[in-house]
Amino acid sequence: MFHLLPHHYTALVVGASGGIGAAIIKQLLSSAQVGQIITVSRQTLSIDDPRITQLTLDVSQEHGRQALKQALAAQPIHLFFNAIGTLHDEAHHLQPEKRLDQLSVDNLTQVMNVNAFTPILLLAALQDSFKGSHPAIIASLSARVGSITDNQLGGWYSYRASKAANNMLLKTAAIELKRLNKQSVVLCLHPGTTDTALSKPFQARGAERKAILAYLCRRAVAGRHRRSNPGG
Ligand SMILES: NC(=O)c1ccc[n+]([C@@H]2O[C@H](COP(=O)([O-])OP(=O)(O)OC[C@H]3O[C@@H](n4cnc5c(N)ncnc54)[C@H](OP(=O)(O)O)[C@@H]3O)[C@@H](O)[C@H]2O)c1
Repeated sequence: MFHLLPHHYTALVVGASGGIGAAIIKQLLSSAQVGQIITVSRQTLSIDDPRITQLTLDVSQEHGRQALKQALAAQPIHLFFNAIGTLHDEAHHLQPEKRLDQLSVDNLTQVMNVNAFTPILLLAALQDSFKGSHPAIIASLSARVGSITDNQLGGWYSYRASKAANNMLLKTAAIELKRLNKQSVVLCLHPGTTDTALSKPFQARGAERKAILAYLCRRAVAGRHRRSNPGG
């Protein structure tokens, strides 16, 4: 997809301090095609490269989004990558819910704000940078658990709902942005379980689930095999 972008293109990465955000920046820096990388995070990053412009802002808040809009001053952005997201936050006693009685307005609001409202409100605030006739790839990290049909296990109410909402909000924006820039492409990307601070507390459980599923699949295949070969 990067072949669609011009030589010396401008990338904007929000959530640059996160595991996936940092990996994306590393990848972008390895390409000579990239002209400028604007990184946005709540913390100052220690990356030293002349192509990096660092902005320390909290774009989950309106004042942060407006400050970013002012800093960009409608300059064309060719790649926008949203790597912001939350699943748990010990400081705010936020944990993914296992049961209905663990739901709270505060947790639902916090997770929806970070995972669903922040990416779409960023698109709204920065639309002058996406309008026009330049190639513009707009990507936001989603999650497999945001799939409604794939929800077999339940739990994680607010995270699942926020990722489903992120998908719908971006799908809707894709339709409008096509009218504002024919060369725009909007993507919701599901990275799969990736070793970062966000997934750390749940990786062992994920591996255990995968092992159980693999065991059940092996048993089902063996059962089918025995039924079709009664003598075997
Ligand atoms: N890791 C996985 O296995 C996995 C799987 C599926 C989907 N994803 C999605 O991928 C994206 C990136 O996740 P990651 O694994 O890289 O997680 P991560 O390392 O925890 O990074 C999360 C990023 O989001 C920012 N963030 C969190 N809460 C925020 C808030 N209240 N306001 C502003 N920024 C906030 C963090 O900024 P600070 O550093 O300032 O806190 C950080 O830059 C998320 O949307 C996540 O849902 C990840």
